Amino acid sequence: MYDRRGARVDGCMTNSSTPPEPAGGDAIDFLIGQHDMIRDLLAEVSESAGPVRQLAFERLVRLLAVHETAEEQLVHPLAQVSVDGSDDLLAQRLAEEREAKETLAELERMGPDAPEFEALFEQFRGKVLAHVHLEEVDEFTALRASVPAQQLRALVAMLKIAEAVAPTHPHPGVESAVANYVAGPVLSLFDRTTDFARKALVSQGSARVGGEER
Ligand SMILES: [Fe+2]
Ligand SMILES: [Fe+2]
Repeated sequence: MYDRRGARVDGCMTNSSTPPEPAGGDAIDFLIGQHDMIRDLLAEVSESAGPVRQLAFERLVRLLAVHETAEEQLVHPLAQVSVDGSDDLLAQRLAEEREAKETLAELERMGPDAPEFEALFEQFRGKVLAHVHLEEVDEFTALRASVPAQQLRALVAMLKIAEAVAPTHPHPGVESAVANYVAGPVLSLFDRTTDFARKALVSQGSARVGGEER
């Protein structure tokens, strides 16, 4: 099965902690591509049974765990320092992520064959769908408007690294409160990555330094 950007969403997450990579140009494309995979897997778990449901659920757990970790480590802190007045929205997204991890851990403990799985999963599905929708319409839209295009492209590499080393099972309670975000390390890493990307572009003779693109 493929998502609407052409990325494989089946048969490619069994031996790796890194989820399949959506096609796309910048960090927002990357994250929205993963949201599409999350939506597909939520539907697949709902509509299947037995071993098919088990496999879809395992993929969903892994994808959600690494995706939310990368958002908490990189995307929300970037939104906090780049988007004026974002604290309240980010606090709501963090609270939703914590609740989702708690429920996901509970679903994982009971397993897809448990009689009570179905009802809890449907509640969980609705909340996750609302969460990813709000991220897209609020936070991601604001990031696109506030962060230079070159930096959003450079962020893809950082997201991939964060997801490659992220825990592949939910660990509720490790989210940073918005007020506790330490933006310095994130931004310095961001600067280094952007600088590296700029040098790479210069060496290819195609750099557009000076902020022409957003
Ligand atoms: Fe999230
Ligand atoms: Fe997300």
